[in-house]
Amino acid sequence: MTTAATPAPRRSLVRRWLKPAVFTLSLVPLALLVVRGFTDNLSANPVEFIIRYLGDWALRFLLLALAVTPVRLVTGWNEVARLRRMLGLFAFTYVVLHLLAYTGLDQGFDLVGLWNDVMKRIYITVGMAAFVMLAPLAATSTDAMIRKLGGARWRLLHRLAYPAGVLAVIHYFLMIKAGYQQPAIYAVILAALLAVRVVKRA
Ligand code: HEM
Repeated sequence: MTTAATPAPRRSLVRRWLKPAVFTLSLVPLALLVVRGFTDNLSANPVEFIIRYLGDWALRFLLLALAVTPVRLVTGWNEVARLRRMLGLFAFTYVVLHLLAYTGLDQGFDLVGLWNDVMKRIYITVGMAAFVMLAPLAATSTDAMIRKLGGARWRLLHRLAYPAGVLAVIHYFLMIKAGYQQPAIYAVILAALLAVRVVKRA
């Protein structure tokens, strides 16, 4: 109970403004995709466009989630950590939509076909491995799961986000046949984020 002597702590700037703003902004790419769909603006190959668009945003959100700790370590702005879970969950949401777009729009929900692709096409294998690593992180993102697992075990499990990021970038490199600039940029960003963690924690 809050008394006059012990006023309720003011909600921080991050919780009050930044979190809702980041939440809203994170939905913008999805909203833009829907608008593009309704305005017939999905390129000559809509299925490929949707899969790639969602894949791009999945990777961007994954890198944003992975950037939170390095930003905290470099700037000392501890409150930024409050954005990590939300960004991670958005990354997972875009990955799930990317996977669903591929499974549904490209494969017609043929799960046997999907499994054959996972076995045969190396970039799909690697993408799936990244997805399998991210799934337990999303499943254990609640406060209850943190308590259940205990902080140390939870943190250890959530380090999987880094190899998942590495696999996601490899997935991108493997799926393209020419023009490696885009995945190279993501690779450099990921390497920089990892380097900050290693250097600052050393
Ligand atoms: C963490 C997981 C994943 C991430 C971050 C991710 C990200 C990406 C990115 C960035 C691209 C390239 C987009 C572009 O060209 O602009 C891509 C392409 C693609 N991804 Fe993923 N992906 C993931 C998992 C998966 C999974 C699990 C599957 C399917 C089982 C998959 C299927 C595909 C396909 C089919 C393409 C290429 C489509 C085409 O040929 O144009 N991805 N992905």
